[in-house]
Amino acid sequence: MIKDIEFNNIPIEIINNAKKENISFMLNAKYYAYYFNNAIVGICAIIKNRKTILKSAFVLPEFRGRGIYKEMVDYRINQLEYPKDYPILASAYFKAAKHLIKIGFKVIKNYKKGYLLRKDKL
Ligand SMILES: CC(C)(COP(=O)(O)OP(=O)(O)OC[C@H]1O[C@@H](n2cnc3c(N)ncnc32)[C@H](O)[C@@H]1OP(=O)(O)O)[C@@H](O)C(=O)NCCC(=O)NCCS
Repeated sequence: MIKDIEFNNIPIEIINNAKKENISFMLNAKYYAYYFNNAIVGICAIIKNRKTILKSAFVLPEFRGRGIYKEMVDYRINQLEYPKDYPILASAYFKAAKHLIKIGFKVIKNYKKGYLLRKDKL
């Protein structure tokens, strides 16, 4: 199950683990938590300033490879309105970007460890 969460309520172990894998957190983001048996095993964020950006996805290592990231991507996209929140941008490391490309995101910028991607249409 995925639910909104205040940044301050994200368990510190999750934040620390995510930071170790170079995930950064921003105060102006809206966060979502993925629950498995009432425990948070993944988090992700949407930032809405002038642009809408999907960011900061993290899944605990022992819960990876079972589609949690994909569910969190779909969930966030479903929170957005078309055309108001479009284009959607996403900053993603290569592994995660592969999935975003599959669902219609285009690479618009290359970084050392990943891409900035954009999705124009619903
Ligand atoms: C990247 C990350 C969020 C993926 O989470 P996940 O829940 O394991 O991902 P999913 O199971 O939804 O799978 C997403 C895609 O990655 C692939 N994948 C998942 N685990 C994988 C693994 N161990 N090795 C290679 N590919 C893997 C899946 O096959 C899937 O691709 P597909 O569309 O070809 O099937 C997770 O590995 C993570 O938290 N990594 C560290 C932080 C990070 O890199 N965050 C991403 C920031 S953009």
